[in-house]
Amino acid sequence: MRLLLLTHAFNSLTQRLYVELTEAGHELSVEFDINDAVTREAVELFRPHLILAPYLRRPIPENVWRRQVCLVVHPGIVGDRGPSALDRAILQDEREWGVTVLQAEAELDAGPVWATANFPMRQATKSSLYRNEVTEAAVGAVLEAVARLTDYRAGRWQPTRVAQRPLRPLVQDAERAITWSRDDTASVLRKIASADGSPGVADSLLGHPCRLFDARAYPATGRPGELLGRAGAGIVRATADGAVHIGHLRRPATPLPFKLPALLALPEAAELPELPELDPPIRYEEADAVGYLHFDFYNGAMGSAACAALLEAYERARARPTRVIVLMGGTDFFSNGMDLNLIEAAESPADESWRNINAMDDLCRAIIETDSQLTVSALQGNAGAGGAFLALAADEVWVRKGVVLNPHYKNMGNLYGSEYWTYLLPRRLGPDGARQLMQRRLPLGSAAALRMGVVDDCLAPDHAGFLHAVRLRATALAHAPDHATRLQLKRKRRTSDEAAKPLAAYRSEELARMQRNFYGFDVSYHVARQRFVHKTPHSWTPRHLARHREIGWQAPTDD
Ligand code: COA
Repeated sequence: MRLLLLTHAFNSLTQRLYVELTEAGHELSVEFDINDAVTREAVELFRPHLILAPYLRRPIPENVWRRQVCLVVHPGIVGDRGPSALDRAILQDEREWGVTVLQAEAELDAGPVWATANFPMRQATKSSLYRNEVTEAAVGAVLEAVARLTDYRAGRWQPTRVAQRPLRPLVQDAERAITWSRDDTASVLRKIASADGSPGVADSLLGHPCRLFDARAYPATGRPGELLGRAGAGIVRATADGAVHIGHLRRPATPLPFKLPALLALPEAAELPELPELDPPIRYEEADAVGYLHFDFYNGAMGSAACAALLEAYERARARPTRVIVLMGGTDFFSNGMDLNLIEAAESPADESWRNINAMDDLCRAIIETDSQLTVSALQGNAGAGGAFLALAADEVWVRKGVVLNPHYKNMGNLYGSEYWTYLLPRRLGPDGARQLMQRRLPLGSAAALRMGVVDDCLAPDHAGFLHAVRLRATALAHAPDHATRLQLKRKRRTSDEAAKPLAAYRSEELARMQRNFYGFDVSYHVARQRFVHKTPHSWTPRHLARHREIGWQAPTDD
């Protein structure tokens, strides 16, 4: 079937559906919801059998849904209506929540139900629930709904009309404002989680209005509302019964109105007393001759300092008498490459980009050159751009089933990319395969990545199952009878690769191109980064997504 994804953005859920529906054999095209005329034009060009709206912020135009089945993915249980479904589920401490695929009609979220799937709620941010539970449930429900289309058209199946509940409006700032004198830690965390990644909880720190993100409980007490200190890059504030650590802030109406580590967004907080950082993003553990290096950076973004700290931790791991090192990344993201927000905030974004890419490269080189252990990247979450190539620096790459990779850079203003991708990708895919993947600029699902050889294994779909499988396999790898032989082979291969073309040559060629991206006449990268960081709405759909806008595209007329 031809399926048109009509969406506000090509976000994580839309990408996952794109991947799964393509895998199921459907023909996909994407149109961003820019205005009604553009939507109508897309429908006329693509002539889809079905329009699917995974992430919309406005209703679908009436003359579209009246002529064509349009299914909306609503991140709420059956009967729930409104734009802040997940925010409200968190605020109201629901135990179970769900996803409903319903048919678009005049009244928002009130059409008949095509499929639904529920899940137990977890204490996590809205974004984390969206990227995990909501996405998994949506994949199941959407595949079920799409499979029903033929029967629906033949009159053999009808969607279910359910009793309509009143529409619940967008959550307003006042509804989740924190009353520091009264709110306990659990309720502060719930409020911030309900607005994380966006829009954050509106508050004020040291007299400055700001939005709060990335909060966790911190074991301290003080006068409720008091700023108790700083820990790592965050600020610790007392609640009615304890304290919270706030990792990230956004200060609207300032020259840097985007999300940043709290201490950077609010330099005045440097005067606060220093407290221990209890939950550092980098953590190392060891068991059965395997070292596990976790690096859970907010949003998977790895700035220059984060890369340097991770390199230090990696070198320490490398010096341990282990046989295998597993790069665990974070729970939601493995890595998304350079930290574009920190780059945007720097006095010279070009210089900071240069520093950041060199720090990424230093880290990748250390992994590639490791000859004392076998190395594995274990991707619990998605990886994009440089973060995807960081994963490929290891000897083996294992991904959780359902992980989506974006192993390309071009979407960020035609960035050439580094991280030794010109060495790492062709050694897996050959030169042609590497070129094709880089030019394709599309998300790659775990199944396709495995088929192509971008990754080596695809393990359990759930986080706990994946972690368990990774530990079993890593331990087996460490104690395998051929461990020494494999290590020897690895050293041999590296030596012959180095003789054929030194790593330094790959790096300098890549960086020469990056230097042009950062300092050259073509400012595409700087423009794309600004738009990304400032979340500028799209004004067109990129060609690689909108197949129906390709030159020569003609929708078949026989159906
Ligand atoms: N630097 C800073 N922030 C980043 C980031 C990066 N490299 N990559 C992602 N983020 C942030 C996003 O701004 C977003 O922030 P929010 O919490 O305020 O909403 C959050 O992480 C989630 O990203 P989003 O784009 O919504 O996730 P996605 O799963 O829909 O898309 C990617 C994933 C990787 C396709 C997309 O995030 C991306 O293109 N990132 C940039 C990758 C890149 O070009 N890196 C630099 C070159 S190495």
